[in-house]
Order: sequence, then C-alpha cells, then structure tokens
Amino acid sequence: MKMMTMINLVRGSVMKIHGLSRASRCLAAEGGVRGLSSSSGPRVCIVGGGPAGFYTAQQLLKARHDTAVDVYERLPVPFGLVRFGVAPDHPEVKNVINSFTQTAQHERCSFHGNVNVGKDVTIDELRQAYHAVVLSYGAEGNRSMGIPGEDLPGVFSAKDFVGWYNGLPCNKELHPDLSCETAVILGQGNVALDVARILLAPVEMLKETDISQNSLEALANSKVRRVLIVGRRGPLQIACTIKELREMVNLPKVRADMLPADFKGIAEVLKDLPRPRKRLTELMMKAVKEGGDDKAEKCWGLRFFRSPVEVLAGADGKRATGIRLALNKLEGSGESARAEVTGQTEDVDCGLIISSIGYKSIPIDPAVPFDPRRAIVPNEMGRVQDTAGLYCSGWVKRGPTGVIATTMNDSFDTARVLIQDMEDGKLDLSVNKPGAKAITALLQTRGVRTVLFSQWEKINAEEEKRGRSLGKPREKLLDVDEMLKIAWS
Ligand SMILES: Cc1cc2nc3c(=O)[nH]c(=O)nc-3n(C[C@H](O)[C@H](O)[C@H](O)COP(=O)(O)OP(=O)(O)OC[C@H]3O[C@@H](n4cnc5c(N)ncnc54)[C@H](O)[C@@H]3O)c2cc1C
Ligand SMILES: NC(=O)c1ccc[n+]([C@@H]2O[C@H](COP(=O)([O-])OP(=O)(O)OC[C@H]3O[C@@H](n4cnc5c(N)ncnc54)[C@H](OP(=O)(O)O)[C@@H]3O)[C@@H](O)[C@H]2O)c1
Repeated sequence: MKMMTMINLVRGSVMKIHGLSRASRCLAAEGGVRGLSSSSGPRVCIVGGGPAGFYTAQQLLKARHDTAVDVYERLPVPFGLVRFGVAPDHPEVKNVINSFTQTAQHERCSFHGNVNVGKDVTIDELRQAYHAVVLSYGAEGNRSMGIPGEDLPGVFSAKDFVGWYNGLPCNKELHPDLSCETAVILGQGNVALDVARILLAPVEMLKETDISQNSLEALANSKVRRVLIVGRRGPLQIACTIKELREMVNLPKVRADMLPADFKGIAEVLKDLPRPRKRLTELMMKAVKEGGDDKAEKCWGLRFFRSPVEVLAGADGKRATGIRLALNKLEGSGESARAEVTGQTEDVDCGLIISSIGYKSIPIDPAVPFDPRRAIVPNEMGRVQDTAGLYCSGWVKRGPTGVIATTMNDSFDTARVLIQDMEDGKLDLSVNKPGAKAITALLQTRGVRTVLFSQWEKINAEEEKRGRSLGKPREKLLDVDEMLKIAWS
C-alpha cells in the first residue's frame, strides 16, 4: 500500500513536470522527485524581509523544529520600513532589528537579499521549490489624491519624502525644494506627523540620528517655517496617535497655530469619548488654547474639514504654488463619520505639498490573486484565496495600517494557520523540496547574485563606521551598487 502511494506520488510529480517551464522542471527534478524518500522537513519561503517576513519566520521556526525558512528580499538590506519608514528620531522603535537579526541567524533560517520576486523569480517557481510560500512584501506604492496638478514639481508623496530622509536608494535624488515658507501635508495619520516633525525639528535634534546626511544638510538650509496638516474630517476622527501629537506639541522653538472654529462643539462631547480618543482630543484643545512659545519663528497647525481638490500652479504653470481645498461638513458622528463637501473652497499658498493619505500594496506577479479595490492579496486568515500553499502576512495581507506590534500579531496568526495546514495534511509534505539551493541556482542562470545575511553584516559594519565619523549611529549607503560591492567584497 505504502509502495503504491509512493509510485502514484512519483507519477503525479512526473506528470506535472510535463506541463512546466524548463526552469520549473529543473526545480522539480532537483528536489521534488529525486529527494522523495529522504525526509528533510518542510521548507517555507517568505517574500519580503520586513517585520511581517521576520515575525512570520520567527513563529514558524519556533513552532516546528523541523521547518526551514528562507527569506527573499528585493533590496540588498533587510528590515523594510523599520529601516526606511520609522522616523530617524525614533531609534527605540528600531530595536526590533535585534530580534529580526536573531531570526535571520537561526540555523534553520536564511536571508537572500537582492532578489526582486516577480521579476527575478516567479511565485510559481518558488512554489515549486518550497512546500509553502508566504507573501510579506508590504505596501510599496502610495494612494494618489487623484486631483489636477498632483504631478507638478513641488508635490511629493509622503512615501517618497520619508524614503528620502531615511536613505531609501530609489529616493536619493528626490531633492525637495525647501526654499518656501509654507508646506501643506494632506492626511493626518502618524506618517503625516512624522513628516511635519522632520520638517520643523531643530537640526540639532536630528543630527545625531541615522537620518541620511544629504537630507540633514537640505533640512539645515530649509526655509520652511509653517507646516499645515490637513484632514478631510474633524478633530474626533484624526488618525494620528497621542505620542506623535505630543511630540509636535513639545517641539522646541515651534508653536501651534490652530483654528478654534474647527473645535466648535468638541468640549461638549469630550466626556463621552473612549479614553484614548478623549486624551488625544484634550491634547489638541490644549494646543488650541495655549498655542505655545509666542517668540517661536516656526509653527505647525492642524486644519480640519478640508479635502484637496486641485494643486495650484504659478503663472508659468511649472510648479506648485498653492492648493485648493474643499470645505467639508460631517455626515454622521464618531469614527465612521463621512466628509461631505459644502461647495465652498479655500486656497492656501504653499511651495511644498506632501500627500500623506496612505501607502498601497501592488501586485508583484500575475499568477497571484490581487484585489485592486482593497489593494491587498485576497485571503482568509492569511491563506491566499484559491491558491493552496500560498499565504500572506503584514500590510499586503490586511492593508497599509497598523504599527509593528499589529504586524507582529498578524504575522504570528498567519504562521499558526500555516502550521495548522501542515498538521492537518493540507500541505503535501511527503515530497522533499529543494528550497534555496534550487532558487539560487536558477537566479544564477539569470545573472542574479544574492546577498546573504553575513554579507548584509558587512554593509551594516560599513554604515556604522561612516556613522561614527559623523557622530551618528549609522550613515546609510544610498547606492545599491555600492551596497553590493561591499557585500561581496
Ligand atoms: C513612514 C512610516 C513610519 C512608521 N513608523 C512606525 C513606528 O514608529 N512604530 C511602529 O510601530 N510602526 C511604524 N510604522 C508601521 C510599520 O512600519 C509597519 O507596521 C510594518 O513595517 C509593516 O511590515 P511589512 O513587513 O508588512 O511591510 P514592510 O516593512 O514594507 O516590509 C516589506 C518588505 O518586502 C520587501 N519587498 C517588496 N517587494 C518585494 C519583492 N517584489 N520581492 C522581494 N521583497 C520585496 C520590501 O523591500 C520590504 O523590505 C511606520 C510605517 C511607516 C510607513
Ligand atoms: N510612530 C508610529 O507609531 C507610526 C509612525 C508612522 C506610521 N505609523 C503607522 O503606519 C500606518 C500608516 O500610517 P499613515 O499615516 O500612512 O495612514 P493612516 O493612519 O491610515 O492615515 C491616513 C490619513 O490619510 C487620510 N486620507 C485617506 N484618504 C484620503 C483622501 N482621499 N483624501 C484626503 N485624506 C485622505 C485619512 O483620513 P480619514 O481618516 O478621513 O480616512 C488619514 O488622515 C498607521 O497605522 C500608523 O499608525 C505609526
């Protein structure tokens, strides 16, 4: 009986091979059929080396002592938004890198940077080489405002602006013009507040952080004195959290400039609010009342009930000089209240506009289901719809919201579901899979060389060395070719 099953399995595998591409045939031959009898444990592949990828890996390694996990990352460097998103003046948040490093150095884990999944290798090829594939590739796009003038010079997405000050290689040439007095940020989430703080913080506060040196120099010469953070709904719907708001309130040499009219009727409902929302609202009202240091040269302000309708260009039409905002009223109340236009508009003069209305996941491979409306990989508890053996975690699973702790819980959930599927026999573990051995060989035939974790550590050491000479924890390398040269030296 056992022998019959094995023969059928071999037949099944061979039959499948006929329908595969040449590359996939190599993968299947290398492990799927030849290694049938030796049991080397489940092999799982993770796409994306950010928090979701590392937390999923951590949980898989912990839950099953026979499982090997390989992480593939597009960049030569790991950690995703912990490196390229989290603000430079929040070093404590980046401590999670220590636990990700432990995971990467685990004897059953390996990291393969410099692999753009979807381009260098397809998801089908990964599925051939592994028992399961987890998509943890985050949200690399951004929501667009969809308004005229959005593409004019002077308008940036928060994603690019954040990438610029955090040393993301593709944003190193952003060169935002900071010679204007007023900047307008659209959206009132924590990313918007990060950007506002970086624009207004005294340079002394930033110079000992890991902010990239080119942006530090640009910020030191910045003429921006006033930053308005604009939301389409009201104070009771603001998306940021209290810690980030408090940092704005406490910025040295910067005062708050709010519109008391935006807070009409808020004092009356304060006592009925849930505690976190109540404390956040009280802090805003304190800022309205006190304003802050009158002698401060710089100011920031929240503006509510306003939606962007058009970026205004100067007489030559060549760059942004202002923004037209629609004035809104609220329909409904509480978190779910909606903004409705009143028909009135307001123009604000500004030379810098940053759209911070959310990141967005993008499809990376046509073979993977993608929900364009929600911009996520459609899934049920992390199991990708209609695709056995394919899973997802993090922002690509649930959308671009949630802090690292949310991403951790969500990734642990996906790992638990995957383990459950292994244990329930929903994943066929009877066939050995070649894992990274086959994928690395395949990548080689395509001229793609990977960066292993030990090679990233060379980049890390170089960045720390350059940082030391500037009194910073690190100076990030901005150029991928330079990263690769150091990694492979
Ligand atoms: C600006 C900003 C600041 C933030 N600050 C904080 C904070 O202070 N505290 C906090 O708790 N949370 C913060 N967050 C939230 C936190 O960063 C997210 O919860 C978390 O990073 C999401 O993890 P992820 O792994 O899903 O995505 P990501 O962190 O984006 O990781 C995805 C990884 O996949 C890689 N990838 C993408 N495409 C491919 C591909 N085709 N092939 C291979 N690899 C690929 C990317 O390079 C990246 O490394 C911040 C978010 C942003 C945007
Ligand atoms: N320090 C930290 O912990 C930290 C720092 C940065 C980011 N993060 C986390 O990372 C996640 C992403 O942050 P985020 O700021 O990008 O997203 P977010 O918290 O979802 O905020 C998005 C903002 O954009 C607005 N918006 C969306 N679509 C809009 C449109 N079409 N027109 C006008 N406004 C629009 C939203 O308003 P509505 O509310 O009206 O939709 C909201 O104010 C969040 O969970 C955040 O907490 C955490």
